[in-house]
Amino acid sequence: MSYVRGDWALRFRAAASTGRTLASGLDAGRLPCRFLPCAGEATGVHSSPGAYAATRSRLPRSAGGQGTRMEHAPVGRCGSGTCCGATNRRSLHRHACGIAIMRLFDEFAHRYDLHTPPVHYQHDHDFVLETLRSWSMPCHVLDVGCGTGAFLEKALRNGMHVRGVDASPGMVREAEKRLGRDVVRVQRMQELEEQSTYHAIVSLSWTINYCESYTELVDVLHRFYQALRPGGGVVLQIAHAKHAPVEVMEDREPGPGGQPEDVLFLYGFRRPPNQLDELEAQYVYACKSLGEMMHEKHLLHVADARAVASCAQKAGFKDIQLFDSFQRNAFSGALSPFLVARKSGGGGET
Ligand SMILES: C[S@@+](CC[C@H](N)C(=O)[O-])C[C@H]1O[C@@H](n2cnc3c(N)ncnc32)[C@H](O)[C@@H]1O
Repeated sequence: MSYVRGDWALRFRAAASTGRTLASGLDAGRLPCRFLPCAGEATGVHSSPGAYAATRSRLPRSAGGQGTRMEHAPVGRCGSGTCCGATNRRSLHRHACGIAIMRLFDEFAHRYDLHTPPVHYQHDHDFVLETLRSWSMPCHVLDVGCGTGAFLEKALRNGMHVRGVDASPGMVREAEKRLGRDVVRVQRMQELEEQSTYHAIVSLSWTINYCESYTELVDVLHRFYQALRPGGGVVLQIAHAKHAPVEVMEDREPGPGGQPEDVLFLYGFRRPPNQLDELEAQYVYACKSLGEMMHEKHLLHVADARAVASCAQKAGFKDIQLFDSFQRNAFSGALSPFLVARKSGGGGET
């Protein structure tokens, strides 16, 4: 196993592109937002009405207009009609199959590209495509946790044969709008069962960190290994908790009608006490023109890139490399490194 060494500059894709830093120390109990807690025409939902007053001073004046409104609804209200109420974890709800789904990725899947536009991933996607091309195989690629299908769309445009899976029906619906039907399906990575099907499996933006333990991760990576053809490979983008910045990051994006700075996205990551490889991720999405806002908080696990590399080795992979970023600099200080690894065999088969 080898680790390529390098620089710590572009440690996180969103921060490196348009992210701006806000006040440090995102407090889990106090939302960093200036929501007006009133009901009305608003369509947004929020689960913590008391947070507004305590935290309003944390944001700059430019963070939003006085007209932004919200209402409070119980966690678990779901536009998709497939969930059945709150779980023991705040901001998660369950689908009919019993799987906990993050609201950000399901109920709000149709807003994902608004707060995290595909242009943010441009360099990461180019890095992945270049890596796949360097394997000199015809490329049948599976994107695990494909989200809205932005990477798959690019891979398709680059002549690749593409498939995607995602645990969230909301994300799969969004991906279908991009890619048509029968390209993506609702499936958890823990349930992947294909054999010798793909030349490449990619899993970007920390999807792999929804494995809840290293045991589960080895099993998932073994499923990836089995699903790959000989000589195929994986590209994973992993959260590395030790390198999480204390600052809250901020992105402002155009609204659905192109209105400048209409969408505000705040995000922060912090390590729970005494946990070296977990991250509590918090996100605040607000769209002024749509009158929407939501807060999401959930845990990311197995957030140690070197431990993930060891798991990949246990699952059978070889030539395992860790990179700090799309620039292929060696892993040293990144929050969001890439792992690239291969399955033995192959040699130009189709
Ligand atoms: C941060 S998003 C990344 C989406 C996409 N890969 C991207 O780069 O834009 C994480 C995705 O992982 C999906 N996800 C979460 N747990 C999963 C699981 N167990 N199996 C498959 N997908 C999962 C979520 O629904 C979400 O779409």
